[in-house]
Amino acid sequence: MDVTHLPFAHKSTIGASGVAEQAVAKTERDGDRVRITRFMENIAPAPAHVAVTGYSDNVDRWQVIEYAPPGFVWLQVGSSKAGTGGREADPENMLLDRHTLHLAMPETDNTTLYLWVMANKADGLTSEQEDAIYDASVLAFNEDIVIIEGQQDRWNEEISKVDVGADAGALEVRRLVDRLIAEETENRKLKAV
Ligand SMILES: [Fe+2]
Repeated sequence: MDVTHLPFAHKSTIGASGVAEQAVAKTERDGDRVRITRFMENIAPAPAHVAVTGYSDNVDRWQVIEYAPPGFVWLQVGSSKAGTGGREADPENMLLDRHTLHLAMPETDNTTLYLWVMANKADGLTSEQEDAIYDASVLAFNEDIVIIEGQQDRWNEEISKVDVGADAGALEVRRLVDRLIAEETENRKLKAV
């Protein structure tokens, strides 16, 4: 739910300066959904995006991250030439307009399977561009694995945690999951009576 790590963890692929500090971000809860919307205007393009689109001038970039219980995250991400309308840009100014679905599936008490799939409009990318994005994504996920496994190794309930602004979406998700667990537990108790 937090994509502010991109410029730090994924410098060579999907990270770009401006993603962390230049975003206008909003976190919303809509029933059992949590949505984070981030718009970054006139920022440098990410290296992997330059490689795919051939466009190296500044871009308007967006990331819409939507969580649905129990473990689905739908990412709508893309970029257009800076100043051409962002998500509403005309096709000739649109650079990337992509959707990915991420599924977290608990495996054991401290391991989780992570499944993902990417999609784009049928005529949105050539097969070479799709392959290039897929390869960059695999590289970025492998960078994530190092960080996530390092966090898991250090995780300890006794250590105090510090929440920062970028955690707003993750905190909403935790509150939502806690509420759903409490409701499910209560329903089971009522059924058992
Ligand atoms: Fe990552």
